[in-house]
Order: sequence, then C-alpha cells, then structure tokens
Amino acid sequence: MKRMIAGALMVLALGSMSMAEAGDGSATYKAKCLPCHGADGKGTAMAPAFAGNEYIKTAADADITDVIVKGRQGADKKYKQFAIGMPAQKLSADEAKDVVAYLKTLAGK
Ligand code: HEC
Repeated sequence: MKRMIAGALMVLALGSMSMAEAGDGSATYKAKCLPCHGADGKGTAMAPAFAGNEYIKTAADADITDVIVKGRQGADKKYKQFAIGMPAQKLSADEAKDVVAYLKTLAGK
C-alpha cells in the first residue's frame, strides 16, 4: 500500500512538473518582460503596468500579441511619459500565447 501511494505521488509530481514547463507564460515574462514591466506587472519608470491595465483586460489576444511581437514605437506610442517604446520581442507562437494569458492574469482578468 505504501508503495502504491509513493508511486501515485511520483506520477502527480512528474505531471505538475511537465505542466510548469509547457505553457508557462510567467517564465517568459520573468526572462524577457520583467526588467521593463516590473515584478508582478506592477510597471517601472520605463514601461506601463499590467496590473489593472484596461487595454490588457479588454483587447483581443491577437492585438496584444501584435504589440508584443511587432513592438510599439514612434507615432504608435500610447504612453508619452515613457522615454522608450515597446521593443519587438522574438517569441514563438506558443510563447506569445502563454505570455498573453499570463498578462491577462496580471491585469486581473
Ligand atoms: C525595453 C523595455 C521593454 C521590454 C523588455 C518589454 N516592454 Fe512591453 N512596453 C514597453 C514600453 C515602453 C511600452 C509602452 C509603449 C507605448 O508607449 O505605447 C510597452 C508596452 C507594452 C504593451 C502594451 C501595453 C498597453 O497598455 O498598451 C504590451 C502588451 C507589452 N508591452 C508587453 C510586453 C511583453 C509581453 C514583454 C516581454 C515578452 C515586453 N512587453 C517587454 C517596454 C518594454
């Protein structure tokens, strides 16, 4: 019986490990977005916050993805208080999808 329980726990542990690897938008966020957008999407002096961000809450995933992979520079810039624009990010389609889902959770949606 003990062995069966240990076995079941192993399977659970392995299952949650692989889930964390595939589809973990927070890992991409920490690696590529956090320096500008801040821990937990709270924003920094360089870039806007995602927490409570109406655009993230209401825009279509495809539009948010566009901003991320194409960037937002020059005349397209929305926030004049930040000196820099949003640099285009090299992400796979999966990474982009996962990071958009993560931004939605940061925005509180
Ligand atoms: C070098 C700093 C920098 C990095 C790195 C960066 N951003 Fe940005 N981001 C900005 C700035 C600045 C803006 C505001 C642009 C503007 O004025 O419209 C912005 C805007 C955005 C917006 C639009 C927000 C809104 O309210 O309209 C999204 C979405 C976004 N970034 C996502 C990301 C994601 C996802 C990553 C990581 C994969 C990332 N950014 C990495 C600086 C950065």
